[in-house]
Amino acid sequence: MSSINVETHKTHSTSINHSSISEELANFVSKSAWSITIQESFFLFLEKNTDIRSKLNNLFKNRDLFTQCIPIITYQEKKDIFTVLFTNKLVSPPEPGEPGSILSYFRSYGYTDSTLYSDCYGQLSCSSCAIEVMNGTLENPTPRDEEYDMLSIDDNRPPTQYTRLSCQTVVGDSPLILTIRK
Ligand code: FES
Repeated sequence: MSSINVETHKTHSTSINHSSISEELANFVSKSAWSITIQESFFLFLEKNTDIRSKLNNLFKNRDLFTQCIPIITYQEKKDIFTVLFTNKLVSPPEPGEPGSILSYFRSYGYTDSTLYSDCYGQLSCSSCAIEVMNGTLENPTPRDEEYDMLSIDDNRPPTQYTRLSCQTVVGDSPLILTIRK
């Protein structure tokens, strides 16, 4: 897959049918730590956004394509929207933070602080870039001590078992499901 696509859409909950969503994709979502309500909202989002659904279905049915393109599926609590980045694995952004970090992909595809904060521009001295990794395996699944120590500095957002810093987490060979908390 050579193209890069970045899409963002508002969500609304209602009952839906999953027949147009590939079994592989549906399983990946259902095994995530997202609540059932958010999962259903995401399936509805896919029902309405056929281009994104088609690209995700294709990737999940042809997993060899993950060597070229990793989808990062994100739920942003504050805005109640989903964002799907179809990352180009062949061109890894060098910064902010670690090369190929989740934050670097968001920034290289035009997403600013209004989507994902980065007060220190990836210097590992804030924690504003925290995300929850709800499914998928990172290139570096275990945080370094320096990252681990920063996870709990924000009293307003105590870390969970899923919390990582997006400037330190490197996209690997697995699709990802994330939440950006309020
Ligand atoms: S942007 Fe500051 S620690 Fe990640």
